[in-house]
Amino acid sequence: MWMLQSMAMKKSFYEVLVMIMLLVKWASVVSGDGHGLGASFIFGDSLVDAGNNNYLPTLSKANIPPNGIDFKASGGNPTGRYTNGRTIGDLVGEELGLTNYATPFLSPNTTGSAILNGVNYASGGGGIMNQTGRIFVNRLGMDIQVDYFNITRKQINQLLGPAKAKEYLSKRSIFSITIGANDFLNNYLLPVLSIGERLSETPDQFVDHLINNLRIQLTRLYTLDARKFVLGNVGPIGCIPYQKTINQLNEGECVKLPNDLAARYNGKLKDLMEELNENLHGATFVLANVYDLVMELITNYAKYGFKSASKACCGNGGQFQGIIPCGPTSSMCSDRSKYVFWDPYHPSEAANIIIAKKLVEGDTSIIQPMNLRQLRDLRL
Ligand SMILES: *[C@@H]1O[C@H](CO)[C@@H](O)[C@H](O)[C@H]1NC(C)=O
Ligand SMILES: *[C@@H]1O[C@H](CO)[C@@H](O)[C@H](O)[C@H]1NC(C)=O
Ligand SMILES: *[C@@H]1O[C@H](CO)[C@@H](O)[C@H](O)[C@H]1NC(C)=O
Repeated sequence: MWMLQSMAMKKSFYEVLVMIMLLVKWASVVSGDGHGLGASFIFGDSLVDAGNNNYLPTLSKANIPPNGIDFKASGGNPTGRYTNGRTIGDLVGEELGLTNYATPFLSPNTTGSAILNGVNYASGGGGIMNQTGRIFVNRLGMDIQVDYFNITRKQINQLLGPAKAKEYLSKRSIFSITIGANDFLNNYLLPVLSIGERLSETPDQFVDHLINNLRIQLTRLYTLDARKFVLGNVGPIGCIPYQKTINQLNEGECVKLPNDLAARYNGKLKDLMEELNENLHGATFVLANVYDLVMELITNYAKYGFKSASKACCGNGGQFQGIIPCGPTSSMCSDRSKYVFWDPYHPSEAANIIIAKKLVEGDTSIIQPMNLRQLRDLRL
């Protein structure tokens, strides 16, 4: 009896403590003081999806074990993240001092003051083009992700009032966009479904089309008061276990066409970053060179403590376990920290940790014109 009472008291004491902590955070947000990062708004594809696809009728799902097996916050249960642990978005937020992960826009929990920590709009299978990923039936493309941010934008106005909301979003929030890989992998390079596009557009025309759409999407975010942007370029998609398996490559080889397309796109993305820095007054766009970073991990994997940069830790099929996505019946490697790739498409948490650190602290060969710590501390 006494123990029960004491437990009840403990619980309510804990609840009061949490309430006080929330109030202090709330007060500092409302008064607009504090200069650290307030919020991280995450846009993109499965590389940074934190569970939006759990709420969609879609063929692209990651809320099945053993995905998430190393994700501490869920006790190793799947969350919808397409990796064994934290995504690059989670890790960058942590490194920059955020105490909460940005929650998925579609989660019922993403309401009230929780959105002041940021919101994640990313969706497995999504791309810059609306039609990208239609093989999965449902996914959130970038146009829709921006529409959703417009909803969040209005909610933040209601929470903080228009003046504070504008200041919070422009000065204390970072907007990261990790998208583009699916526009190649699940659109342009897909036999059958993409035949129309590939017949009507050359690779350069297709890349220009992507960049033009992205320009409109980023400008829309700017009109909604986003000012600090991170643009991730497309990684070496010709080196993922899936591509290496279906093309029957050897261990140290990568498929040329996907990598060439990524490189073309990345060149134009750099031009776009420079153009927007010049034309969108008061905004800072930072370009994350994910391509070179991941290529370095793949080429010199042993130097970073990895045992394999070609095999998926979790997956099945072919020489690199690269055909069947990670799920309960897949084989799984014994030491997950020794693989660059978690599954046929996505890096492991061990690789994500290295990538995130470099984005936060790295030099201009990795992230330009400044790294993410500098972007966070930039006074606009
Ligand atoms: C939503 O919040 C409840 C209660 O705090 C928690 O148990 C649940 O895990 C949360 N769900 C998600 C998807 O985060
Ligand atoms: C994509 O779909 C959205 C919403 O349905 C629409 O507003 C937008 O114009 C479309 N974008 C393109 C490039 O077709
Ligand atoms: C946001 O939504 C409003 C309607 O509520 C619309 O007028 C405005 O054009 C939208 N902004 C963007 C950038 O989509």
